[in-house]
This record gives sequence, C-alpha cells and structure tokens, in this order.
Amino acid sequence: MVNVEICIGSACYVKGSSQVVNDLNALIKEHNWEDKVAVKGSFCMKACQNHIGLGIRVNGRQLEQVTAQNAREILEKEISAALA
Ligand code: FES
Repeated sequence: MVNVEICIGSACYVKGSSQVVNDLNALIKEHNWEDKVAVKGSFCMKACQNHIGLGIRVNGRQLEQVTAQNAREILEKEISAALA
C-alpha cells in the first residue's frame, strides 16, 4: 500500500491542495489504484515554512517543489515508482 498524505493546512489550501486531492483521486481511478493507494489529509507539515512547495508525503517522504499545477504528474511518477 502506498500512503499519500496531503496537507490541508491553510497555507497549502490557499495554494490549491484541495485541487491536488481531486487530481489524485482521479489519478487513482484512472490507474485502478483503489486498493493500492491510501490518501489521507494531514495538518501542516512545515513544507510551507520551509518553502518547499505543497505539503505532500508519499510513504512518509516529503516531496519538494510540488505545486497544484505539477502535482498530478509528480504523484503519478512517485506512486508508480513506489508500486514497482
Ligand atoms: S500548511 Fe501545508 S505544510 Fe504548512
């Protein structure tokens, strides 16, 4: 199981984290990853304070430089790699 946590804190919300949740859910459907990927919301994980983009973790690892625009592509790569 790949665990994806997406920050729902206010700084990330303003930068589009709710859109990322929608995109991720669509991605999961497209790839039939329903049984393989677990999505959870998270409180602030300090990505905002460290200026490393949206607060998103895959299997506990903080991704860097993720924006609402590139999140779909990055998550597709990260999750595919984690499942390989
Ligand atoms: S609000 Fe998302 S990392 Fe801080």
